[in-house]
Amino acid sequence: MSDVESRIDELRVLVGFHFDRYHAEDDPQIPDADYDALVMELRTLEAEYPNLATDDSPALLVGSAGRSTFDEVIHRVPLRSLDNAFDVDELRAWSERVLRRLGVDPGDGASTPSWTCELKFDGLAVSLRYEDGLLVQAATRGDGRAGEDVTANVRTIDDVPTRLSDGAPPVVEVRGEVYMGLSAFAALNVAQLAAGQKEYVNPRNTAAGSLRQKDAAVTATRDLSFWAYQLGEVVGGPDLGSHGDTLAWLSTLGMPVNERMRRFADFDDVVAHVDRVAASRHDLDYEIDGVVVKVDDLGLQDRLGFTARAPRWAVAFKLPPEERTTRLLDIEVSIGPGGQATPFARLEPVFVGGSTVAAATLHNADQVRGKDVRPGDVVVVRKAGDVIPEVLRPVLAERPRGLPAWTFPTSCPECGEPLSRAEGESATFCTNHACPRQVRGRIEHFASRAAMDIEGFGEQRVALFVGEGLLDDVAGVFTLDYDRIAAMDGFGETSVGNLRRAVEDSRARPLGRLLFGLRIPHVGTTVADLVASAFGDLAGLEAASLEDLEAVDGLGPIIAASVHRWFRLASSGDLLARLRAAGVNLVAEAGPGGGADVPRVLAGMAVVVTGTLEGFSRDEAKAAILARGGRSPGSVSAKTTALVAGEGGGSKAARAGDLGVPTLDEAAFVRLLATGELSG
Ligand code: IVH
Repeated sequence: MSDVESRIDELRVLVGFHFDRYHAEDDPQIPDADYDALVMELRTLEAEYPNLATDDSPALLVGSAGRSTFDEVIHRVPLRSLDNAFDVDELRAWSERVLRRLGVDPGDGASTPSWTCELKFDGLAVSLRYEDGLLVQAATRGDGRAGEDVTANVRTIDDVPTRLSDGAPPVVEVRGEVYMGLSAFAALNVAQLAAGQKEYVNPRNTAAGSLRQKDAAVTATRDLSFWAYQLGEVVGGPDLGSHGDTLAWLSTLGMPVNERMRRFADFDDVVAHVDRVAASRHDLDYEIDGVVVKVDDLGLQDRLGFTARAPRWAVAFKLPPEERTTRLLDIEVSIGPGGQATPFARLEPVFVGGSTVAAATLHNADQVRGKDVRPGDVVVVRKAGDVIPEVLRPVLAERPRGLPAWTFPTSCPECGEPLSRAEGESATFCTNHACPRQVRGRIEHFASRAAMDIEGFGEQRVALFVGEGLLDDVAGVFTLDYDRIAAMDGFGETSVGNLRRAVEDSRARPLGRLLFGLRIPHVGTTVADLVASAFGDLAGLEAASLEDLEAVDGLGPIIAASVHRWFRLASSGDLLARLRAAGVNLVAEAGPGGGADVPRVLAGMAVVVTGTLEGFSRDEAKAAILARGGRSPGSVSAKTTALVAGEGGGSKAARAGDLGVPTLDEAAFVRLLATGELSG
């Protein structure tokens, strides 16, 4: 595999993982900007190397499309996106392009068009279809061409009328934004905390997650709202001359239309207006991320038309990421479960980017020095739409005289052992394997839901057991002294019994869960499952050479090396021996592709799958190949052993033909899985 191929594979795993965290679980792990950078890198590489592009690449996932449990709705009129203007110059350049296209002389005040300015609401776009005045369908934007049917969920939103006022035409599609107001969001988080649950991160993701609930009864408990701003398909209805008329008409039909829409004849007034909006965005009870400027006259909109992506008659002026100042109370260092020492700012609480921020990461020692922020400074804090708040810089004019610079502590605040920073690295670590924070971190992770899923083994109990000396590594989970636990405060017969049962049950988890639980660097859930199914059992994995690991489809060189290195550590050997002795399951899950007992008849073979098969999904076919020791790359090359072509696998079949790679139908694929032999 070339470096590019492995980087693409690695990026696909990462993008797929973070896509799920964001869209399926509404629990993002990295800032939006970092995720965008990964997608961008993947798209760029796929564009540069079209032979490596696959039709199932996660780079093709947009918005909330893809992996859906909702029915698909094809939009009769596509839901377009908007082009952005990031500053006033770009905004003016857009208006000049509009005038040029319309053949209007900018100096001729009489013939220049009027402009409308609406707030750009930060929620998610939906299209509501009314027939004879009744709401018959609500769909998300999806990829703009097709979205998801969320009718039942949208019906629970108070703002959305299920019946329009008299005078509704036979068909009208209303486009607008579903969002969660800031006070509704705050109230939801108060309720979450009271119920001992995790707080939601931001109103937009929470609105999206609420709308995409499988059970509309859950959506009904979320206080969602709606603003209408555009029409889709309309049959009948009045002759509308302008966008302003459209909004006024929508309002008479009973749709909520935001009262802050403004209309200007002069573009200088548009520019002055966006400045005013930027200054007053905090006065609103909902989040906005810009101002949408549209050409008001619908006839002119028609003449301007669309590019492939967006209308030429509208633009989104994006407000700069929000910044606030507050006092930096102190800089502290927190030790992560993996030992990383991260400085963070304790701040006087400040409301920024939709939530109250009292702490912000400072990343590492270099960042603190580079920004020269000192405890006692007034600092500028930013959150943008991002998840993680950031300290940008000190306000030097307000720095008290003689304020000393901050220095990184030399010892771990948890265990007192020295902290160390490797030459050329930016991160500082506590390297004491026995540091209580790290011990707890390893066990918390091991017991967590995505790993061994041990109910009732959360942070507090881990801290208690470690503190009482009952437990000092993950293998100890299986040899807990339940008599001692039963004698501890807060434990009764039932809770000890439940804990014991939960621990016993977890022994049977498949190998992928165990591997993820061991915190092998770079091994997330996807990679853990991949490695488990490729080698079948722990012994196979322990025996794997670096080359064997690199040959696993989807494993880049960095991950492969990391797994290989971990299995060579003496401490890993000891730990695995103890887990073995504790009777923990060490065999991969028997998935659709077979379990560990499947003969490795495809070892050394590269089998590409394309098109639709009847008996296997694409993932199942790949899993079946991996389980038999083969690889399943995303594209056909001269090194491909065979191409399995289902229904509609055109371009890859043609390439296989050109390269003389044998093409198998489904029956031949089934024989290949059984025998390892290529037969016609
Ligand atoms: S008009 C054909 N107006 O912004 C143009 N969009 O970045 C249709 N949005 O997908 C869009 N507020 O979800 C329009 N007042 C507003 C908006 C708005 C928010 C969203 C919408 C769109 C996205 C584009």
